[in-house]
Amino acid sequence: MDVIVKRPNGTQDVTPAQVYKWHTIEQVVKDSAEQFGFKEIRIPTFEETGLFVRSVGDTTDVVQKEMYSVSATGDEGYTLRPEGTAGTIRAVIQNGLLNEAMPQKVYYLLSCFRHEKAQKGRLREFHQFGCELIGTASPAADADLIALAHSVLGRLGLDNVELHLNSIGCPECRAKYRQALREYFLPHREELCDTCKDRLDKNPMRLLDCKSEEDQELAKDAPVILDYLCEECSAHFGRVKKNLEIMGIRYTVDPKIVRGLDYYTRTVFEFISKDIGSQGTVCGGGRYDGLIETMGGKATPALGFAMGLERLILAMESRGNEFIAEKTCDLCFVTMGDAAAEKSVELAQLLRDEGYAVEYDLVGRKLKQQMNYADKIGAKYVIVLGDSELESGKAKLKNMKSGEQTDISLGEELCEQFAAQYYAMMMDTDDDFRKFVEAFSDGQE
Ligand code: HAM
Repeated sequence: MDVIVKRPNGTQDVTPAQVYKWHTIEQVVKDSAEQFGFKEIRIPTFEETGLFVRSVGDTTDVVQKEMYSVSATGDEGYTLRPEGTAGTIRAVIQNGLLNEAMPQKVYYLLSCFRHEKAQKGRLREFHQFGCELIGTASPAADADLIALAHSVLGRLGLDNVELHLNSIGCPECRAKYRQALREYFLPHREELCDTCKDRLDKNPMRLLDCKSEEDQELAKDAPVILDYLCEECSAHFGRVKKNLEIMGIRYTVDPKIVRGLDYYTRTVFEFISKDIGSQGTVCGGGRYDGLIETMGGKATPALGFAMGLERLILAMESRGNEFIAEKTCDLCFVTMGDAAAEKSVELAQLLRDEGYAVEYDLVGRKLKQQMNYADKIGAKYVIVLGDSELESGKAKLKNMKSGEQTDISLGEELCEQFAAQYYAMMMDTDDDFRKFVEAFSDGQE
C-alpha cells in the first residue's frame, strides 16, 4: 500500500529490523569517547540563526545555501542545526563550563540538517557523533583527539579509511596565504565558476573546495598553505605529526583539506573511506582557537571532530563488518485456554522482574500461530501451557534452537530452574557471554 504523504527527500527511516546497526555504532562511539574522558552533552535541535552565521561563517555553502530556517508565528530567526559544534560551544559558554576544570571534553550524538542535493551518503537530515576538546592549545591534544577518532574507526572494523591531515595556520598565516591565492587565481578569474568568482573576493580558500572540474584543474597548481605557515604554526603541526607517529597512526599530509566551515585554525583533518564512493569523508574536524571568543566566551583554544553515522554504516556494510546483534526474546509462552493465558501473564511478570525478555500471546491466536510467532521473533525458549500443565504445576521448556525439552516447575522454582537452563545454553552457544563469564570468574579467584 502506498502512503499518502511520503518522507521528505534526503531523509531516512530506520526500521526496527535495521536499528541494531545504529545501536552498534552508538555503543562503540560512546564507549570510545568515555574511554578518552569525554562526557555527553545534549543541545537543542534549533538555535538562533545568527549563531551559525557567526561561527560556521557567512561565506560558507552551509550558511549561504543549506540552512533550514524555521519560523512560527511571531517566532522568526531560528535555524535547524546544520552541525553540532556551534550549539555545543554556545552551551559550554552559557552554562559556565569554561569556568570548570580544563580541558573540558564533551561529546554528542545528534541529527543535523542541510539542504544539499541528496545522494548516497549525502542526506538532508543526517546524524553526527562529535567530540569537542576545549581549553588546550597543546598539539598533544590534536593528536589525542585524532587518536580517539582513529580508535572509533578501528573498533568499527573500518581499516580502509585514510587520515588526511593539514594545517591552515593562524589568521596571520592565512592572510598572507589568501593574498597569494588571489594573485594566483586573478588572471584566471573569467575561467572560474560564478560561485568561485565571488569566493575570489570574499574567501579565496573556499575555491580549493569547489566541486567544478575546471576549477579543480586550475587549483592543482595553486600555492599551498603549508608554505605560508608562521614558525609557531609550523612547529605546532610538526608536533601533531610526531605524536601521531609515536601512536603508530598513519596519515597523509594533504594541503587540499581546507574544510567547509570558517571557524578552523591550524590543524584540520578528515578520515576518508575508499569503500563508499564520492561521499567518502566519514569524519572531519580540526582546531578552532578563535571561535569561543568570537561567540562571546573568554578566549579559549579548542578543537573537535564529527563523524557522519549514516556514512559509518555504509562503510561497515560495504566491508561486510559485523554489527552487534539485538537482544531477542528469551522466552515466549504459548497458551491454550483462558486459564493458561492468565497464568502466562503472571509467570511472564515474574521472569521479566528477573531481567528476562518474555512475551505471551496478545492477539488471541491459536496454538500453531502462537508457535509460528515465537519462531519468527527468534524466541530462545518456549513454554506451552494448557489445562494439564496447570493441573500438574509442571511444563516443558523447549529450546527452540536444539529442539531439546526439559521439565520446568510453574511454581516458586520457575525462575531458578529457568536461570540454570538459560545459563547452560548461553555458555554453550554464545562466545561473548562465555568469555565474559570466564573473565569475571578469573577476576574473582
Ligand atoms: P563536517 O565536515 O561538515 O564538519 O561534517 C562532519 C561529518 O558529518 C562529515 O565528515 C560527514 O561524515 C558527515 N556529514 C556532513 N554532511 C553530511 C550530509 N549531508 N549527509 C551525511 N553526512 C554528512 C562538521 O560538521 C564540524 N562541526 C565537525 C567539527 C566538530 N569540527 C570541530 N568539531
